[in-house]
Amino acid sequence: MRNLRGSSSLKRCFVFIVWWTLCAGLAKGELLEELFQLPLFQHISAQIGRKHVFSVDGFGAKGDGIIDDTQAFRDAWRVACSSPSQSIVEIPTGNTYLVGPIDFAGPCISKVTLKVYGSIVAPKDPGIWDGLNPRKWLYFHSVKHLTIDGGGVINGMGEEWWSRHAVKVQRQAITFHKCNNLNLRNLAMLDSQQMHIAFTNCEEVRASNLKVNAPASSPNTDAIHISSSTEVTVINSMISTGDDCISIVGNSSNIEVRNVSCIAGHGISIGSLGRAHALSKVEHVLIQKVSLSHTKNGLRVKTWQGGSGYVQHIKFQFAQMENVSRPIIIDQYYCDSSHSCANQTSAVRVKNISFTHIKGSSATEEAIRFSCSESFPCKEIELEDVQLSSSSGGITTMFCWNARGSTEGRVYPLPCPSFVDSVIEQKSIPGVISYWKSS
Ligand SMILES: *[C@@H]1O[C@H](CO)[C@@H](O)[C@H](O)[C@H]1NC(C)=O
Ligand SMILES: *[C@@H]1O[C@H](CO)[C@@H](O)[C@H](O)[C@H]1NC(C)=O
Ligand SMILES: *[C@@H]1O[C@H](CO)[C@@H](O)[C@H](O)[C@H]1NC(C)=O
Ligand SMILES: *[C@@H]1O[C@H](CO)[C@@H](O)[C@H](O)[C@H]1NC(C)=O
Ligand SMILES: *[C@@H]1O[C@H](CO)[C@@H](O)[C@H](O)[C@H]1NC(C)=O
Repeated sequence: MRNLRGSSSLKRCFVFIVWWTLCAGLAKGELLEELFQLPLFQHISAQIGRKHVFSVDGFGAKGDGIIDDTQAFRDAWRVACSSPSQSIVEIPTGNTYLVGPIDFAGPCISKVTLKVYGSIVAPKDPGIWDGLNPRKWLYFHSVKHLTIDGGGVINGMGEEWWSRHAVKVQRQAITFHKCNNLNLRNLAMLDSQQMHIAFTNCEEVRASNLKVNAPASSPNTDAIHISSSTEVTVINSMISTGDDCISIVGNSSNIEVRNVSCIAGHGISIGSLGRAHALSKVEHVLIQKVSLSHTKNGLRVKTWQGGSGYVQHIKFQFAQMENVSRPIIIDQYYCDSSHSCANQTSAVRVKNISFTHIKGSSATEEAIRFSCSESFPCKEIELEDVQLSSSSGGITTMFCWNARGSTEGRVYPLPCPSFVDSVIEQKSIPGVISYWKSS
């Protein structure tokens, strides 16, 4: 009865709807739903089960990579977002859609799925952003229950941007701001102008099977940036970039990263936190089963002097390192500024951070660095089963400054004497160094 697609004439549909509305007293939303099924709407909407499918092609997108399809994407989003029942926006396979900055505003009336089967490319010319917010390209905000998948490609065409790049604005290819209940999966992101994917003020995010790729030399091309968000998981993804593989900042909590591989770039980072005296709280972060290969840092916590708040209850476990320049680092003197940063007494406090089952090779001698605040030394730092050898065959060392914690099981490089509060279950082994040489 509900599916009117087979109706032979517009008139029959209207008669039916008028009858249906009057006799059955349908809600306005449901009437709209019936309207979507009129022949009038057939060119933009098909139906799979209870979901309406809107192809961007139905809104005039050309998909030739030359003609600007921005308006078609905007229109498709507007219709899907106001659809009274679940809808799918389809970006067809085999095509390349050139789109400029788009505001995907929510909240939507029902759940929306964006099926990216084809490719979406950004304009090459950074000049397109003149007079617009330079941070945004695909900007989703206040959207709930959104799924994006499909196996397609999102290409930020960053090359020109990198070469012109002078000012430090954080351009983000895809931004999710104030999102709730987001699924992002099966997507490839290429050559973003700067950050690839940013979540800010989001809750309940599941990101999986992502491939992110930008040259090792591209500036500020963080892959996944999580800020002021909670309940975020990033799993089963391959990332190769010029900057952070994953960065977690702001007031974020309950974050899990699992089975992610990071190649080149700056590794996995909590921070930077506390810049310009900011108050920042990051807690309950679990990073596990990750591999880091030829990255500048491995697992890092970095805070600026002068901030406040804390970083606590962080677990890094089962990480494989290959020729990583600074495999494990806590740096409370982070200073990414042209002039040196003044010493200050306040700090983002660091405690209860564990590094468990971390193995592989370090490109530098100093494989572990804990450089903590004098006023608030790092505490409850745990090293368990950590084995970091030198990729060039020499020894590795650990540096400590105001850091205290415990070790358990085998730990190499040898912990600083000042670090150790307690040693738990130090097994008798024939000498850690010879252990590494023989393996
Ligand atoms: C880990 O992620 C890769 C994709 O990067 C996937 O192929 C593999 O199946 C995942 N492993 C597990 C155990 O889920
Ligand atoms: C963290 O939240 C507090 C309020 O609890 C706010 O004052 C502060 O600016 C936030 N910090 C960041 C980095 O978002
Ligand atoms: C340390 O953090 C872990 C989570 O990583 C948590 O389970 C544990 O209870 C914390 N320990 C203390 C003493 O707070
Ligand atoms: C390790 O990394 C360093 C610096 O990034 C590089 O110079 C060196 O060639 C790399 N070594 C190996 C064995 O890949
Ligand atoms: C900050 O303190 C450190 C160690 O106490 C000292 O070596 C350094 O010179 C100080 N830096 C400045 C800018 O005062």
